[in-house]
Amino acid sequence: MTETTETPTTSFPEQRPSGCPFDPASGYTALRRADGITKVSTPAGVDAWVFSRYDDVRAVLTDSRLSSRSAPSAHVVPGADLQREVMSGSILQNDGERHAHLRRLLTSEFTVKRVQALRPRIERLIEDHIDAMLASDGPVDLVQAFALPIPSLVICELLGVPYADRDEFQQRSAVLVSVDRDEEEVMRVNEELQQYMAGLVISKQDKREDDLLSRLITRAEEQGQPLTLPELVSIGITLLIAGHETTANMIGLSTLALLRNPDQLDALRNDPGLAPTAVEELLRYLSVVQFGLFRHVMEDLPLGDETIKAGEYLIAALSSGNRDEMVFPDPDRIDLSRKASAHLAFGFGPHQCLGQQLARVELHEVYTRLYRRIPSLRLAVPFEELRFKDNTLVYGVTALPVTWDR
Ligand code: HEM
Repeated sequence: MTETTETPTTSFPEQRPSGCPFDPASGYTALRRADGITKVSTPAGVDAWVFSRYDDVRAVLTDSRLSSRSAPSAHVVPGADLQREVMSGSILQNDGERHAHLRRLLTSEFTVKRVQALRPRIERLIEDHIDAMLASDGPVDLVQAFALPIPSLVICELLGVPYADRDEFQQRSAVLVSVDRDEEEVMRVNEELQQYMAGLVISKQDKREDDLLSRLITRAEEQGQPLTLPELVSIGITLLIAGHETTANMIGLSTLALLRNPDQLDALRNDPGLAPTAVEELLRYLSVVQFGLFRHVMEDLPLGDETIKAGEYLIAALSSGNRDEMVFPDPDRIDLSRKASAHLAFGFGPHQCLGQQLARVELHEVYTRLYRRIPSLRLAVPFEELRFKDNTLVYGVTALPVTWDR
């Protein structure tokens, strides 16, 4: 790891540069060029060491002296703790053998082969939602009409949510990831979803079908370590939250980024073969897990002349690592032909995103269909009127009113 000297504690997160909603805080560029590491104070009032360079972010995320267990991401989110409520005890917040066990049980559900089998359903969902948008009269909010429902319905496919329940499931999950609902409503809907998931798990325990939950129940039983109802509910809810908000914000924000970079959008529209590198480049450029990943130090870490002490916290700044000019030349430019697949948007190390192949297929299908089917797609409001999610764990555009030639 890079050497550092302890600098005065600054507050975290820093604001993005005004007028550049796709760029991370400019302080990261200066930090990467200086020490690479600095100490900050988080909104929850704890001090944490921020690691800003690509190589250091990877080193942090593979260091077994660091724990995810007592490092709820809510510590870095100004004013929010929903994520903490929903995620505590989940695979994301387990370490060591317990984490490895949960991960082994789930890995076979996210192989390339398994995800490819879902592709026809994903294609259909995307085409149906484009049809519905085209059939509507006026400008539509792409976030509500397209970006939110697609990943939520894909998770319904994955978990085996019956068709009759999908509208309600999708509406509830949209409330859970929204930024403008009051806290009481979000807590009520969270409770309803937990109850729904418990009912779904019980129905799969009674009657196994061809879906992730059924296979998971059977697999754990066969290994002589059956999963409890709360464990299965936690897995179902974690998959919903981890897979819904991230992918939805990527769809909305990357569409906006492409509309702001028309040459790149034209290139993608004219050459669908560009979609695989476009997926990786947009994941890198946007780094929607905007505040990075939080870790708890379990034993003293020597760092140059200093020691990061057991009990302190670290932040692996994914968005900064993804703009590291030593790894990605001209990092603030979108280049859809760039080979960016080593980006950090899915994290790195033992917790690296389990659903990344699924997310890639969803984004690939969006990028090869949406802009070709609606070639005149454009913003329906001035860019300056758009609002961005500066205070949530996953970054995105709050609403994206779009229109097209009819
Ligand atoms: C663009 C979309 C996505 C992004 C940017 C993203 C990002 C991430 C990141 C950064 C992590 C690492 C967290 C950590 O180390 O603490 C992660 C973990 C995870 N993601 Fe994703 N994710 C996406 C889509 C999905 C999807 C579609 C699913 C499944 C339906 C999913 C399921 C998970 C799970 C279960 C973990 C925890 C893995 C573990 O702890 O071992 N993600 N994701």
